[in-house]
Amino acid sequence: MIKPIILTGYMGAGKTTIGRLLAEQEGLVFLDTDAVIEEREGRSIQDIFAGAGEQSFRDMETALVGELLEKGLSDTVLSVGGGLPVRAENRRILKALGTVIYLSASAETIIKRVSGSENRPLLKGGELADKVNRMLSERGPLYEQGADIIVETDGSTAPEIVREIKKRLKNIMF
Ligand code: S3P
Repeated sequence: MIKPIILTGYMGAGKTTIGRLLAEQEGLVFLDTDAVIEEREGRSIQDIFAGAGEQSFRDMETALVGELLEKGLSDTVLSVGGGLPVRAENRRILKALGTVIYLSASAETIIKRVSGSENRPLLKGGELADKVNRMLSERGPLYEQGADIIVETDGSTAPEIVREIKKRLKNIMF
């Protein structure tokens, strides 16, 4: 049994793709907070933002990670929504829950990856590059504070990033 591996990072950092691949290679369960919330609510993140508002969505995120901590989680790769580590309480919960890996990416990489994304309410409207730059500079220090390990993803493929994660985790778990 190993403690959960938690992936954080900005939208488009590759959390879901990398998390799925890592889970598949290591025979771990893959969980994604956005997907769990959508399933529970029976509606998309976009509809939750439009109907209940961002604050309600943030409260759902905190409630979910709190529940996971209470229940106890193992043998799982957990990918969390990009804004989840912004709350200090959530950062504390994630650290208590498992090993937190921040997948960092430059604004340039992120802009390339999220361009044309239809399902991310926070990126709707306005100039994408300005938004990404502003949010990254606000969130970067918080992602760093909340992480046990930081993995740079610029210029690497998903399998390369997974290999790097395993190398960095090797002493602790694999
Ligand atoms: C958000 C990121 C999204 C999703 C929601 C808000 C954010 O998740 O939780 O749209 O605030 O960065 P991904 O990071 O998986 O896109």
